[in-house]
Amino acid sequence: MEVMQMLHMNKGVGETSYAQNSKVQRKIISIAKPIIHDAVQEILRSNNIESMGIADLGCSSGPNTLLLISEIIDVIIRAKSCSLGLHLSATTELRVFLNDLFSNDFNTIFMSLPAFYNKLKQEKGPELGSLFISATPGSFYGRLFPARSLHFVHASSSLHWLSQVPPGLDSKAAGEALNKGKIYISKTSPQCVLDAYALQFHNDFSLFLKSRAEEMVGGGRMVLSLMGRPSYDPTTPASCYQWELLAHALMTLVSEGRYVRGNGNQMKWGD
Ligand SMILES: C[S@@+](CC[C@H](N)C(=O)[O-])C[C@H]1O[C@@H](n2cnc3c(N)ncnc32)[C@H](O)[C@@H]1O
Repeated sequence: MEVMQMLHMNKGVGETSYAQNSKVQRKIISIAKPIIHDAVQEILRSNNIESMGIADLGCSSGPNTLLLISEIIDVIIRAKSCSLGLHLSATTELRVFLNDLFSNDFNTIFMSLPAFYNKLKQEKGPELGSLFISATPGSFYGRLFPARSLHFVHASSSLHWLSQVPPGLDSKAAGEALNKGKIYISKTSPQCVLDAYALQFHNDFSLFLKSRAEEMVGGGRMVLSLMGRPSYDPTTPASCYQWELLAHALMTLVSEGRYVRGNGNQMKWGD
């Protein structure tokens, strides 16, 4: 089945949900906070904005999903209170678009909105202004929004997902023969496997940038956070050790006659 139709983080708010298992991703957002603040200030400095379009791409569901909105509101309220030479209309309204793939748990996000709105009203008071939150399901590897409708685009811990398994590695037989049964780049992967992943990332990321270039206004800003690795070589232990362990565990389960189904952050198995 197509990655875009089946990929989703674990739904709901239970013990194994993404909502309860996304502390690393939360840390990444908090590390990027000063960069997000600077980017929003830059937007306000260069434009006279009455209605700011904001998109969070690959938002998933859980506490991290609404974190970005609180951050941006803080910047705007702070900018309103201390005149920093920013062009702020007293009525600046925020249009926030939460994007993820079609099977993301948007219902859990919607259910959490009343409590979120109440908390914001209590914490920010009348300074809050108008806030319109909506969902935009679909792949960020392609157009999602009308032309020139966005001022700020954010994506955290989501752009490392490719749109598909690289061609040539996608059929079970070809993938196994080329990549020696591994599910990602490992220390036994030949150069052609590394090239196939690099080309897929290049094609996906180019399409991402092309799509956003049409959707963003001039002077808009984008903050993208992706996990990096300490070495250029993706086959060093520091780069692929966790994938080696995961592949080993999955292959053991399969060799024991158990099947494995993956759904984002979690794997399930059965007899
Ligand atoms: C690890 S989660 C990160 C969620 C959130 N941004 C955070 O920091 O906690 C990655 C999210 O990216 C989404 N994603 C992956 N590929 C995508 C695509 N092509 N278009 C939209 N969302 C995508 C996944 O469904 C998943 O919800």
